[in-house]
Amino acid sequence: MTTTSEPTLTHRERVRAAGLSGDYWYPAMWSKDLQKGDVKEVVFWKQSIAVFRDEEGRVQAIEDRCPHRNIKLSLGEVKGCGVQCPYHGWVFNGEGRCTDIPHEVRTKNKPDIRVGNFPVAEKYGIVWIFPGDRSKATLSALPQLDPIDAGWTTIPVDFVNKCHHSMIVENVCDFYHEFLHRDYRPFHKAKLLSVEATKDAIEVSYETTLGGGPFVKYFADTGSVNLSQIKLWYQYPFQRSDIDGKYLHWLFLRPIDERTTHVFYLFTFKSFKLPFTNFTLPKALIAPLIKLTSKIYVLPVLAQDNWIMAEEQLGHDVHGGRPVYEFNPFVVKAQQLTLRKWEEYQASLAQRLQNKRGSPTVVETLLEA
Ligand code: FES
Ligand SMILES: [Fe+2]
Repeated sequence: MTTTSEPTLTHRERVRAAGLSGDYWYPAMWSKDLQKGDVKEVVFWKQSIAVFRDEEGRVQAIEDRCPHRNIKLSLGEVKGCGVQCPYHGWVFNGEGRCTDIPHEVRTKNKPDIRVGNFPVAEKYGIVWIFPGDRSKATLSALPQLDPIDAGWTTIPVDFVNKCHHSMIVENVCDFYHEFLHRDYRPFHKAKLLSVEATKDAIEVSYETTLGGGPFVKYFADTGSVNLSQIKLWYQYPFQRSDIDGKYLHWLFLRPIDERTTHVFYLFTFKSFKLPFTNFTLPKALIAPLIKLTSKIYVLPVLAQDNWIMAEEQLGHDVHGGRPVYEFNPFVVKAQQLTLRKWEEYQASLAQRLQNKRGSPTVVETLLEA
């Protein structure tokens, strides 16, 4: 007798199919891109969320689905403190409650119509959303970026990468790929010093020559910044790095689906030097210089990474089940962390759904016989 069975996924295939736990804060967009009266669709792992700034300036986030005919509310318009669906004009406030129906309603009692809503916050020029269990959404769990609070010069950059989020973390923390950047040389001859895993993070450090490319070496503050070592973290669910406590970056990822990830980088710098001298640049000159550096150095380097990660995704789509060789222990540990966190989140989600069963919060049908 023959039996059919599901093909077994390899460990790597399971990693590349995993989302990120909803029980963390994720970047929706830059604050400047959400003006009063704007409503936009933000996707977190295939779930569409309507994020809007109401007419009083408050950011709100609700399920992006009108419970009348399943139209996306993000296609509508902000009206007062809510969003108006473009079809029959129902209005939903930031709590997800329907506050107005501008047509005849043939029921005896005022219907209680609701959609889900999500905690939101604004910090570091980013609108944050919390897509998971709202009881875990304390503001203290937002990432703390002390140098940005202290006013260091910061460059924000975002991309929609055509690849799985785990490939991005692996790319940024794997310093064995200097060949890809051989024209720009952001790092050179990296030697892995250590990889340490804790419950929710993996730290990796390298000895290397940083910022040695044809341009950046004139600006890097070699007098006061040690450019021979870097530490990087996969600090679930984001990634960050630190060069001598003076050049830092954070990389916040919002997974859209298995092949698409919106990433938000914040690069921050304590000091730069005047080219061809050892003088530190005055603060007023750092911002324009960093803009220039970003244009001719940082963005081209990241474009190479973005291109190769999209190619890695295409390669995975075809060959994902085949064995690969991996020499960087960070990559192995990062994949274990991604998968474990995803499985834990799936289990907690199942538990939450079980607890909810029998207590529906959304009225499905209101039409009276
Ligand atoms: S579909 Fe939204 S109001 Fe009818
Ligand atoms: Fe790179």
